Amino acid sequence: MEELMIGKIHDESRQGEAFSSDKTTGQNYNKYFYIESYGCAMNFADSEVVASILHDQKIGSTVHLEKADFILINTCSIREKAEERIRKRLTEFRQMKRENPSLIIGILGCMAERLKANLLEEEKLVDIVVGPDAYRSLPQLLEEAETGQKGVNVLLSRDETYGDISPIRLNSNGINAFVSITRGCNNMCSFCVVPFTRGRERSRSSISIVAECEALFNEGYREVTLLGQNVDSYNWNNEETNENVTFAKLLEKVALISPLLRVRFSTSHPKDITDEVLFTIVKYENVCNYIHLPVQSGSTRLLDLMNRTYTREWYINKVNRIKELIPDCGISTDLIAGFCTETEDDHQDSLSLMEYCKYDLAYMYFYSERPGTLAARKYADDIPLETKKRRLQELVALHRIHSLESMKRDVGKTFKVLIEGPSKKNEDEFYGRNDQNKVVVFPKLNFKKGEYAMVKIHDCTAGTLLGKAIV
Ligand code: SAM
Ligand code: SF4
Ligand code: F3S
Repeated sequence: MEELMIGKIHDESRQGEAFSSDKTTGQNYNKYFYIESYGCAMNFADSEVVASILHDQKIGSTVHLEKADFILINTCSIREKAEERIRKRLTEFRQMKRENPSLIIGILGCMAERLKANLLEEEKLVDIVVGPDAYRSLPQLLEEAETGQKGVNVLLSRDETYGDISPIRLNSNGINAFVSITRGCNNMCSFCVVPFTRGRERSRSSISIVAECEALFNEGYREVTLLGQNVDSYNWNNEETNENVTFAKLLEKVALISPLLRVRFSTSHPKDITDEVLFTIVKYENVCNYIHLPVQSGSTRLLDLMNRTYTREWYINKVNRIKELIPDCGISTDLIAGFCTETEDDHQDSLSLMEYCKYDLAYMYFYSERPGTLAARKYADDIPLETKKRRLQELVALHRIHSLESMKRDVGKTFKVLIEGPSKKNEDEFYGRNDQNKVVVFPKLNFKKGEYAMVKIHDCTAGTLLGKAIV
């Protein structure tokens, strides 16, 4: 479970995978909640904020559905399929609610925000609907729901960052943790529902971010991933000292906590990532050489329709600059196949861009129209489903070749690996990740979880590097 949760959190979240969560704190709880999280890492981080808010009210978390007084589903709206999946999951709770009418079911997150009170109408078993900025009202809404009063709070905020809340880590391996640094998004990419479900962008105080990372380090965590829809636009003013903290400065502050604490971040926006950020990656060994830089399309015409505000050439220049300053940097991306008006030539542009960048990792989707977005209002969703799927298949097939080449290039190299836990397949082996975020498996010897090992790679599979630790 841990390996799945940590090793694949990024792509799992993008496939809309769900994880239920438990935290045994030894406390006496009055009630229990069960939470399932879907969508991106930010949603998973939010579930940990929710756990903290409920924990303060003596409501503990459980992985056992049958033990739960409250079932909470932290939802995603990014594609139609993500919402369909959650509706299907709700049907599975119907029987439980029939057998136990006092069971409270709550929908949280982006689908709650998008559909608001309509969800109560459409899904009769749902008792409360709570948007991403309204989690502080959860205890009250749950209490009212217990008296039979259904409730909705989907107010978006301009300043809520939950910066004062110490998240309770769910499903944690005790080594890696997510730390939110911004909420919301101001970018308005024409295909994307996030600005509507998460509201305006706001940056959390750097003081609270550094304090959370320090506390994690002191508890034994060895890797933090700083999260935001666009981390490069992080900007926070310390009014007491008059210091303006940019993302590069924040990275530096977190890197300085300890050389033993690895720092990752996601997501970078090609229009905003600065040389200052790249220089900070170069300067600090513990800031990982890995950048997730979603391109979305290789066609400048489509990038314009998508309102991404950069061109193919701009993107290629960014990739060149990253490779110039950080030659061994791992680069990953997101790509959409079959966006409105996409021609075969546009699609070829995406393939040729992939050929140029040779991504280590890519998350690829076919376009799914989202109600209310700029694209849904302005452009026809005019690419037939079979064409979208065929183009997606072509992107996926090309990426497979590149990612295998990337794995094979690492055979013979030696990497510093942070040990995250025992390998799922062989208990005599550890698994961990290198700087570039690749999973490495190697015999345990006398190493311990949370330590770093220098591992020489002798072989690879499509997704894993196999090696031996140098002692
Ligand atoms: N903030 C990040 C960025 O700017 O790249 C990504 C955020 S979004 C949660 C993750 C990915 O979902 C996007 O990069 C995009 O590739 C994909 N996505 C978003 N809306 C989509 C849609 N309507 N249809 C298909 N894929 C979509
Ligand atoms: Fe969506 Fe664009 Fe914001 Fe990313 S930057 S969350 S794709 S609007
Ligand atoms: Fe999904 Fe919301 Fe994240 S729509 S991808 S959970 S910000």
